[in-house]
Amino acid sequence: MRILTVVGARPQFVKAFAVSRELRSAHEEILVHTGQHYDEELSDVFFTELGIPEPEHNLGVGSGSHARQTASMMTDLAALVDEYDPDVVLCYGDTNSTLAASLVASKRDVELAHVEAGLRSYNREMPEEVNRVLTDHVSDLLFAPSERAIENLADEGLTEGVHFVGDVMYDALLWAREHAPTRSTILDDLEIEDEYVLATVHRPRNTDSIDRLETILACLADDPRRVVFSAHPRTLDRLEAHGLLQTAERKLTVIEPVGYLDFLTLQTNAAAVVTDSGGVQKEAFFLDVPCITLREETEWPETVAAGGNVLVGADADAIRDALEDPPTAPSTAEPYGDGTAAADVRRLLAESISR
Ligand code: UD1
Ligand code: UDP
Repeated sequence: MRILTVVGARPQFVKAFAVSRELRSAHEEILVHTGQHYDEELSDVFFTELGIPEPEHNLGVGSGSHARQTASMMTDLAALVDEYDPDVVLCYGDTNSTLAASLVASKRDVELAHVEAGLRSYNREMPEEVNRVLTDHVSDLLFAPSERAIENLADEGLTEGVHFVGDVMYDALLWAREHAPTRSTILDDLEIEDEYVLATVHRPRNTDSIDRLETILACLADDPRRVVFSAHPRTLDRLEAHGLLQTAERKLTVIEPVGYLDFLTLQTNAAAVVTDSGGVQKEAFFLDVPCITLREETEWPETVAAGGNVLVGADADAIRDALEDPPTAPSTAEPYGDGTAAADVRRLLAESISR
């Protein structure tokens, strides 16, 4: 079986790490990096430290408007589908790279498989929600990370080709949890000795609104503990534009994004995680670290139901309350599978393509 895998943004490298290991043991994979993320700390570091094979192609799309970015990726991906004639195009998650791959594959004589199918925030203002809904509706194989995701798909009339596999990020985390303690020096590098809070913010809803960003920063700055703030380039840019960067740097430990093993180490040892990231909410849940989510809704509602995650939006009182009295997860449920999702993806792809 020949698989053309499309990745482009940070969380997709983590997901592809888990699945590519499985696929390459028995099949031919052509890995295509769209170049949506291109900074060393958002891209190369993941390939190097996780040993992800060098992509066969990097489309070098770079940053830009959604339309330009998606259109440019589509043009190049269509040419690669022609060139390689794969049995299946495999895409992950909900970024513009996902949408570009799915639109191209859906108009070609090739199967389209979507890992992380069925997630919904039910907030169409998020570009990711549009990307994931459209991708699911043109996919032939829909690999769902949770039972809830399968219900979401059924509500939209999608029942064929749908499989529960669990979350491939859990597979990646289980590997990294084993290797991070000997490979990461981040706690020493940052001279962390006392309790600290770990924060990430990158959703446009938070970064592009000065009110929301200022509120979030003020709440973090007021916390008596040290706050380590991993700043996505979009966030750094917005902090600067809103005139908030100096305050942030004075009150918080603002760091450039770090590699996956360093970030997992920071999450594992944090007193609490404050984030608007999808992947980070889940990782905090897997690691049993209280998560305070700077959003009004989540596509990972199981983490909230289990008690380990609380949605606070950018409401100052709610953020402060959660920092003072963080959520704890009493449940031992495994709503996202048992860490063998990637093997299921490999098996189901092979079964479907050989038919
Ligand atoms: C993208 C995804 C988002 C995902 C996130 C993971 C879309 C619509 N959004 O958001 O779902 O959660 O990746 O991190 O696909 N930039 C750099 N260097 C880079 C990449 C980006 O400086 O290597 C800056 C550019 O100014 C760019 C901005 O970050 O305009 C946003 O990048 P983009 O890829 O458009 O969206 P993300 O916010 O990263
Ligand atoms: N991550 C990382 N370094 C950082 C911040 C995040 O390695 O400095 C990892 C994190 O562990 C998770 C993924 O990036 O695996 C989440 O990606 P992101 O928050 O960018 O996107 P989302 O999941 O919200 O789409």
